[in-house]
Amino acid sequence: MNEVIQNILNRRSWRSYEEKQIKEEELEQIIRCGLWAPSAMNQQSWHFTVVQDKETIQRIRKGCQEMMETDRDMFYGAPTLVIVTGKQDNIAPVADCSLAIQNMFLSAASLGIGSCWINCIGRYLTTPQGQAFAKDAGIPEGYIGVAGVILGYPKGEVPQGKERVEGAVDYIR
Ligand SMILES: Cc1cc2nc3c(=O)[nH]c(=O)nc-3n(C[C@H](O)[C@H](O)[C@H](O)COP(=O)(O)O)c2cc1C
Repeated sequence: MNEVIQNILNRRSWRSYEEKQIKEEELEQIIRCGLWAPSAMNQQSWHFTVVQDKETIQRIRKGCQEMMETDRDMFYGAPTLVIVTGKQDNIAPVADCSLAIQNMFLSAASLGIGSCWINCIGRYLTTPQGQAFAKDAGIPEGYIGVAGVILGYPKGEVPQGKERVEGAVDYIR
C-alpha cells in the first residue's frame, strides 16, 4: 500500500491533545494543503481564520457552550482552531470547504498532528455572540460558517477505526 492510501486509511478524529502548540511550518503546510483543494468552477469559496490565541479560543468555546447549554470542552483542549467559512453566494461553498477540510485533516495526519471536525462552529457564527466574533475576527461579509478544524499534537491511544456501514457500495458492470 502506498503512503497516501495508508494515510487516508489511518487518519482518525482525535479528541485528546497536548497543550504544546504545533510548529509554524507544520501549520503552514496544513493551511497550504487546505488552499489546494479542488473547488466548484475553481471558486475557492473558503476563508480560514486560524485561531491560536488562548483567550480567543476561550471566547469561542464559551459562546458554543452557552449555545449548546453544556460545560464540556468541544475543542478537546486543542491549541489551534481553524474556523472555515464559505462564500454563501458561490456554487458549492460547503462542498468546497469540506474538501479543504479533508485536505487539512490528511496533511495533519501525515505530519503526526491530530485533528477533528467541530460542527458547532457553523451555528455559533449565526448567534449574536458569533456574529460579533466574526466581525472582530475579520471574517468577510457573506461567508457562512462550515466547521471548525482543531489541530494539535495528539495525546493517548490512537482511536480505533470504526466499522464501515454495510451495503454502501453497489457496482453496475
Ligand atoms: C460533518 C461532520 C461533523 C462532525 N462533527 C463533529 C463534532 O462536532 N465533534 C466531534 O468530536 N467530531 C465530529 N465529527 C467527527 C466524526 O465523529 C468522525 O469523523 C466519525 O466518528 C468517524 O471517525 P474517524 O474520523 O476517526 O474515522 C464530525 C465529522 C463530520 C464529517
